[in-house]
Amino acid sequence: MTVKQTSALAGAQQDQARAATALAHPNIALAKYWGKREGDGNIPAVPSLSVTLSGMSTTTTVSFDDTLVDDELVLNGEPQAHDARAKVRATQLLDRVRAAASTTSRARIESVNDFPTASGLASSASGFAALALASATAAGLDWDPSRVADLARRSSASAARSLFSGFVELEGLIARAVAGPAALDLRVLVCVTTEAEKATSSTVGMKLTQAASPYYEAWVTDATRSHLTMRDALLRGDFSHVGELAERSALAMHACAMAAGIVYVTGATLSALAEVRAMRASGLETYGTIDAGPHLKCLVRAEEAVRARARLEAVPGVLRIIETAPGDGARLLGGPP
Ligand code: PMV
Repeated sequence: MTVKQTSALAGAQQDQARAATALAHPNIALAKYWGKREGDGNIPAVPSLSVTLSGMSTTTTVSFDDTLVDDELVLNGEPQAHDARAKVRATQLLDRVRAAASTTSRARIESVNDFPTASGLASSASGFAALALASATAAGLDWDPSRVADLARRSSASAARSLFSGFVELEGLIARAVAGPAALDLRVLVCVTTEAEKATSSTVGMKLTQAASPYYEAWVTDATRSHLTMRDALLRGDFSHVGELAERSALAMHACAMAAGIVYVTGATLSALAEVRAMRASGLETYGTIDAGPHLKCLVRAEEAVRARARLEAVPGVLRIIETAPGDGARLLGGPP
């Protein structure tokens, strides 16, 4: 091989190291966290237990480029303004990567969600998980999933869980898989009630709740205890007990937030929850959970998902249903595009 060929090959390899594409699924918390510890480490106040969901995904490509004067973010095909919230948060994550990799290069980010963005469907979880993995890889950092999860957590705590497959716990700084996707033969039916972005971000909602809810201390005590009970139920494969605790966790979180004036549910959310409870009363065992948005997520055994889905599709205000199942953690997709 000539010197010229060798240096061309080295250049190509260097370019490859400067771009990477990652795919991540969102996750939903069965045992929710709500509230942060004091300080600026973005550490949840209570432990949480989630399931990573196949059936919805974010795909993100990060390319470091010395010719750029600023980071660029194209989200779902739309270039984001310099001061757009998503762009500012992406740059904060990239700044941490740059510091770790000792580089000052700016990056171009292209990110696509195949489900509604920023409306309470955990797009920040899959978004920051994919961004963390793609940017650390593109910067040449050879980090294990725990280290990438820690990077993701600083931007969105729930994103740390999307690095891992199946059922995942986030306790303080640490995210870890508790059980694989097959631990429960579960389907999660995501009842989409709006395609719009939510009015109050989870970060703001949590701050207001911590400052003003008379129930916040009780929530912290109860959430810490019920997370442990749920983990035991999960490890026994006890769908009923996990489902009961999941519905209770969501209602406790929302009750705590509502007492501070933060309301994420709408009439459609409550209609869908009422249908979940009616199904359960009639012997079709379903449970509901709700995150910081108006969508109801229904937990059901895989073999009963078709029946539950037909019932939920008939609920006024439910626009469509995304059927998901326990899935894999974030992963790299074959090199730069
Ligand atoms: O970490 P964030 O900002 O995505 O907030 C997540 C909040 C909930 O989804 C409501 C609860 C949870 O544990 O995911």
